[in-house]
Amino acid sequence: MSDRRWWKEAVIYQIYPRSFKDSNKDGVGDIPGIIEKLDYFKWLGVDALWLSPVYKSPNDDNGYDISDYFDIMDEFGTMEDMDKLIAEAKKRDIRIIMDMVFNHTSDEHAWFIEARKSKNNKYRDYYIWRDPVDGKEPNDMGSCFSGSAWQLDEQTGQYYLHIFSKKQPDLNWENVKVRKSVAEIVEFWLDKGVGGFRLDVIENIGKIPDEKIVANGPKLHEYIHELYENGFNARGTGEDIVTIGECWSADIDIATKYTAPENKELSMVFQFEHISLDEQKGKAKWDTKELDPLDLKRVLYKWQIEHTKGWNTLFWDNHDLPRIVSHYGNDGEYRVESAKMLATLLHGMKGTPFIYQGEEIGMTNIQFDDIVEYRDIETLNMYKERIAAGYAKEDIMKSIYIKSRDNARTPMQWTCGKNAGFTDGNPWIGVNENYREINVEKSLADENSVLHHYKKLINLRKTDKAFVYGEFTPILMEDKDIFAYYRTYGKDKFLIICNFYGRDRIIEVADVDDTKVKTEIILSNYADSSKKLEKLPLRPYEAVIYKIDSIVL
Ligand code: GLC
Ligand code: CA
Repeated sequence: MSDRRWWKEAVIYQIYPRSFKDSNKDGVGDIPGIIEKLDYFKWLGVDALWLSPVYKSPNDDNGYDISDYFDIMDEFGTMEDMDKLIAEAKKRDIRIIMDMVFNHTSDEHAWFIEARKSKNNKYRDYYIWRDPVDGKEPNDMGSCFSGSAWQLDEQTGQYYLHIFSKKQPDLNWENVKVRKSVAEIVEFWLDKGVGGFRLDVIENIGKIPDEKIVANGPKLHEYIHELYENGFNARGTGEDIVTIGECWSADIDIATKYTAPENKELSMVFQFEHISLDEQKGKAKWDTKELDPLDLKRVLYKWQIEHTKGWNTLFWDNHDLPRIVSHYGNDGEYRVESAKMLATLLHGMKGTPFIYQGEEIGMTNIQFDDIVEYRDIETLNMYKERIAAGYAKEDIMKSIYIKSRDNARTPMQWTCGKNAGFTDGNPWIGVNENYREINVEKSLADENSVLHHYKKLINLRKTDKAFVYGEFTPILMEDKDIFAYYRTYGKDKFLIICNFYGRDRIIEVADVDDTKVKTEIILSNYADSSKKLEKLPLRPYEAVIYKIDSIVL
């Protein structure tokens, strides 16, 4: 196949370095900590590691506020550590993917420090400035982290735009110098031998603040294509590296623009339609409702069937999202079964699977008793805002338990020992108490753990290309409880069946005649799943992958 690519066949693992592994007892994860765990990734079989930002940063938003793109955050280590990580990973055939935040910088970045000095500073135009209107903000645009998106800069009397926190001023992409500077950052990291980039909120770079347009501005695709030419492809590597855009509002048409290979923009995008289905339309993410699994099925299958000119990402978790086993699964009695079911459902589909640290052992959401134990700026700002607006504290905490980004940010659970083996010091954020039960050490020792199930799913993509390139054909479309689909590639045919719920079911796989096919169970989360597909009994969260061969009579 001419359009085969390593990143289509890969499984990518996301590391949130601050919470991954601390090597020097300061309570903060770091790059030497990641190096210590490289053999774990080799064992697991992942092909690339995406690191959330490791650059210099005052950490207003945990590294998504970068003050120097060419240097490493002191807490995380040095550039030597980073070079060593890239080299050691390479020895194990693992690529490093850098997280690039190009929509904004930190207000402590040299460009912004210069820019705010005066209206005619040569960096002024790197950012977006507007005069006050009637002595107030230029317009009513809001920040994603509560409050106005405009901040008055006293010294020059103008407002600057910040879609995120006021310590994250937005870059002005209309300025060609900004676009050149950004491409230089890409080149610098390419020369270090990284395998690609994840592009933070890249859909926002074409914004037009005066028209209150943030995502999907008219020049968005022109800018990304230019970044491809001057950055991703600066060393002729445009086709070899992987680029993944974070695009919250991409629909199929928009995703196609980004990812159709002839457009030379990005390899794939993260879109969030499937993961936001528990939110009330038009409201904040905190205002949730119950998930209707038919909605989830409709969304997942739509992307599988209609997004064919570009490549899909497959993910449940990241550092901004609740833990999937708590979110769409069952983190109580059926934690292990439902975590494996969700993994099977996702990894069976067409696209590149992403695993977020801890997902592979079935880590769960956290419920801290008090707001002072939370660290995330989005959570803390929302709490203040809603308290001021008169919401009941219990209701706010309830939303936080469901949706806070800190659910994903508690330390990785390595062992049954102190602080889950994450640190010998004081962790920067509390460890989930369930670590004695849920940790890597225990999971490694247990063949039936969620971890071993992930390892098998990852391995399937290596041994059976049907899971990568095979055609996707859903069945049982109207069944509320069951997600089922075929993957076919040449003469290979697999059937993936997942019971999304905690109740027993018997289903009919109508197009299969048990006397005419031979079924083999490739993977299951129960020891004794049925091989007969007519009147197939399924237990709570049962998930099975069958290989199906026709019997030649
Ligand atoms: C992205 C990141 C998130 C960050 C925001 C601003 O959504 O994933 O963690 O806060 O962008 O950079
Ligand atoms: Ca440390």
